[in-house]
Amino acid sequence: MAESLHISAGDYSGDLPIAEGAIRATGLSAVPTELGPLTSYDPGFVNTAACRSAITYIDGDAGILEHRGYPIEELAEHSTFLEVAYLLINGELPTASELEGWDEEVNRHRLVHENVHEIIRAFRYDAHPMAKLMASVASLMTFYPSSRRISDAESRKLNSFRLLGKMPTLAAAAFRHSIGRHPVYPSDELGYVENFMAMLFQSQQRVWRADPRLTRALEVLFILHADHEQNCSTTAVRTVASSGNDLYTSCGAGIGALFGPLHGGANEAVLRMLREIGSLDRVPEFIEGIKGGNGRLMGFGHRVYKNYDPRAKVIKKAVDDVFEVRGTNPLLDIALELEKIALNDEYFVSRKLYPNVDFYSGLIYEALNFPSEMFTVLFAVPRTAGWIAHWQEQLTDPDQRIIRPKQLYTGSDRRPYLPVGDR
Ligand code: CMC
Repeated sequence: MAESLHISAGDYSGDLPIAEGAIRATGLSAVPTELGPLTSYDPGFVNTAACRSAITYIDGDAGILEHRGYPIEELAEHSTFLEVAYLLINGELPTASELEGWDEEVNRHRLVHENVHEIIRAFRYDAHPMAKLMASVASLMTFYPSSRRISDAESRKLNSFRLLGKMPTLAAAAFRHSIGRHPVYPSDELGYVENFMAMLFQSQQRVWRADPRLTRALEVLFILHADHEQNCSTTAVRTVASSGNDLYTSCGAGIGALFGPLHGGANEAVLRMLREIGSLDRVPEFIEGIKGGNGRLMGFGHRVYKNYDPRAKVIKKAVDDVFEVRGTNPLLDIALELEKIALNDEYFVSRKLYPNVDFYSGLIYEALNFPSEMFTVLFAVPRTAGWIAHWQEQLTDPDQRIIRPKQLYTGSDRRPYLPVGDR
């Protein structure tokens, strides 16, 4: 196995050491080129590691996802969401008493300042809930100015509890504002996920209880969405953190990145696509359209997975559980037919395009009565656990510096400035 990479360019000849399966890109700058020191060009960071991380391991070819060494399938089967959040943020699974203390700490931070509700109320009735979530999360920094003390471990911990606790409250308030309802306050009687559902759907003063099978299905979805190493939104969180920012400002940026249809917004796009197709007999024609360059098959393909996304497998099982309670949805048949055709079609097979986490999650959200604008919000709430873990890792890694990539300049050469009348 090579332990160094030999480079020879013009008069230069030298070796770059390989460590941890990587060369240090800064070593390339020893190699001269006609345009200056050699650099690497990697749009989308397809083959560039920007950090070391001990949180999540993915083997995209084998379809493996593990958090701190635990396979996602086992976590989804045996854990609660807050237990997985503990694992991501603290590195180990909690003991029973650690878990009890953790749940209590997170849940006692669920209330938000009344002025945050005013911020949400200031939006137009039809504003997308992701915009309300982004604004309200970013605003929390102003309610907790000490969160700017990012080198203080106690402050980092306290604000992590606060954000984890408040995310469901903000998400639910954003939703209820769109349907013209007053926010529901969190209840100490209810656990994290059950309380979230109550804050969304309660319509009278009595305590609202969800069917435990539906609460568990949502909890499983929360676990599956908790972290996914250096995805677009986590990279946004790390980038904003790298200039010295607090958790709320950093996660506000993460929410913005997650909103895009190529990332967290894909589940909303999947449901739109299934409705557009409308019936089983139109599936082959739709697939032909995609192959002819007419858009993308939403919920298919992944930057890292070149195999079935392991989260999609767990979700497919949860779809059955939810439909058993709520009755089936004809869109599921369209989704299954799309999957069947795509998995046997040369276009998708040769590009290694398989269903990803978003292909079936929208169907579950819809069965749980969520409008499609809420789907990405339902991704943001649990992903906060991963964002917190990465924000903390970024801030405490002595190797890290402000994130500031290079560019290959393609603009004009230097030219004289012309006064406006002479152009
Ligand atoms: N449908 C049809 N063709 C596709 C798709 C798709 N969903 N995804 C990729 N391709 C094709 C693409 O056109 C390209 O073909 P060619 O080589 O002929 O130009 C090839 O596959 C490689 O695609 P790419 O855009 O270079 O791949 P990427 O790694 O940059 O993009 C992706 C990854 C997830 C953005 C992309 O697969 C996609 O747009 N999928 C649909 C949106 C989606 O489901 N997103 C959710 C991702 S999972 C949740 C999350 O983690 O955020």
